[in-house]
Amino acid sequence: MKTFYIETFGCQMNAHDSEKVVGTLLQSGYTQVEEPAEAELVLYNTCSIRDKAEQKVFNRLQQFKREAGKGKTFGVLGCVAQQEGERIFERAPHVSLVAGSASYTKLPELLVQLETGNRRVTGLSLDTTETFDTPFTRRDNPHRAYITIIEGCDKACAYCVVPMTRGPERSRTSDSVLREARGLAELGYTEVQLLGQNVNSYHDPSPPGWDFAQLLAATGRIPGMKRVRFTTSHPRDFVKSIIDAIEEDPALCNHVHLPVQSGSSRILSRMQRLYSKEEYMRRIEWMKRAKRDIAITTDIIVGFPGETEEDFNDTLRLAEEVEYDSMFIFKYSKRPNTPALQYEDHIPEEEKTRRLMVLQERQRAIQIRRNANYVGRTEEVHIEGYNLATGQWIGRTTQNKTLNFVDASLPRPSEGKTLVGQYADVLVTRAGPNSLAGERAAA
Ligand code: 5AD
Ligand code: SF4
Repeated sequence: MKTFYIETFGCQMNAHDSEKVVGTLLQSGYTQVEEPAEAELVLYNTCSIRDKAEQKVFNRLQQFKREAGKGKTFGVLGCVAQQEGERIFERAPHVSLVAGSASYTKLPELLVQLETGNRRVTGLSLDTTETFDTPFTRRDNPHRAYITIIEGCDKACAYCVVPMTRGPERSRTSDSVLREARGLAELGYTEVQLLGQNVNSYHDPSPPGWDFAQLLAATGRIPGMKRVRFTTSHPRDFVKSIIDAIEEDPALCNHVHLPVQSGSSRILSRMQRLYSKEEYMRRIEWMKRAKRDIAITTDIIVGFPGETEEDFNDTLRLAEEVEYDSMFIFKYSKRPNTPALQYEDHIPEEEKTRRLMVLQERQRAIQIRRNANYVGRTEEVHIEGYNLATGQWIGRTTQNKTLNFVDASLPRPSEGKTLVGQYADVLVTRAGPNSLAGERAAA
C-alpha cells in the first residue's frame, strides 16, 4: 500500500483542489497519512500570492532534504508549481514532481511515470477544463462543501500573480455545477460555497447562458440547500442582480466579500483595478439599501508602490464609510512577472508595517461597533464544533460571523450524539471584535 501526505497553503480554491487530489490518490490505491515522516509521497499544494507564502514551501522542502532518495518522493503542486515550473528542480533538487492546478486529474499518470524510472515529471499545461469534473473528491467537511464554478482570471491587477498561476478564465457549465450541488444536498450537505478567482464573471458556456446571479439563484433553489455562499468577487463585475437574488432567497447568505484593495482612486488606477472609489461605493450602497442585513468584508493592500500618506488616508476614510464587518489587510509584496514590479516608487517595509497596524487598529474599533449591534438579536447558526476548554458550541451565522453559545440542556459531544452540522437559534448576549457569544434561544 502506497502512502501519501499532503499539506495545503493558500486560499479556498487551493483547499478544494487538495480535496480533489486526495480523492484522486485514494482512488488510485494510495492511503493518506498524517505525518510527512510516514509517507512515501509528500505533496505540498502551494500558494504564491505573496512572497512569504512562496517561501513557506521552500522552507518545508528544506526540512526534509536529507530524506529524499530514501524511498520518499516529493511533489510541489499549485500556484508556486505553476509559477516556477521546472525552476523548482533547481531550487529544491530532491523534488521530482511539479504540477499546476489544471493537471490534477493527470496525477496518477504522472506518478506512474515516476515509478517506471522517470526522475522528474511535470504537469504544467493550463490549457484544459478537466479540473472541474474530477470524478473523485474527498471532502474534509461533511456539512459544508466547496464547488468550483470558474477557474482562472482574465483581469490584470498590477500586483497579482493569479492570472499567471491559474491561467485564463474558464467557466463550468451550469448543468454540471447544479448536478454537483444536487448530489451534495442528497448526501446531506446543507451549505455550499461557490468558488472562483472571480465568480462574478461566470458565464455559462452551455445553452441557458446564465450569468453568476442566475447560477447563484438556481443553487439556492435546490431542495435541502440551506446556505449558499460565494467567493471571491471583483467589484467591476459585481452587478445589482446579485443583490436582488440575495434579497429574494434566504438560502443565499447575507454576506458579500468584495475586495477593494485601496480607498484611493489614484492607487486603484495604478493597480489596474478597473473601478474608481465612487464606482465601488455604488455597489456598497446597493448592499446597504437592501432589506437583508448584508455583512460586507474586504481585502486591502497597504504600501502599494506610490501610495502616499494622502492615498492611505483615503483608505482609512473608506473603511469608516463602509464599516466593514471584517477585513484582510496585506502589505504589498513584489511578485514575479507582474506589472507593479516595474514601478519605481516602492514603499519601505517599516512604513508598510506602520500602515498595516494603523488600519488594523481602526478596523478593530469598527468591528467592535458593528458587532455590538447584534447584542439582543436572535441569529440562526450552523453548528461547526464544540470547544471543550470553554464548554461552548461554535456556530456560524449567515453573515459569516462566529457565534459561540452555551446550552446546558444540549448533550455534550462526549455524551455521544453530536450537534455539529445542525442549525440552532441563538440569542446574542455579548460581542467582541472578532466574534459573538450567546445562549440557545428558547424554542
Ligand atoms: N501583495 C500583497 N497582497 C496581495 N494580494 C494579492 N496580491 C498581492 C500582493 N502582491 C491580496 C489581495 C487579494 C488577496 C487574496 O491577496 O488583497 O485580494
Ligand atoms: Fe494563493 Fe492565489 Fe493561488 Fe489561491 S489562487 S493559492 S491565493 S496564489
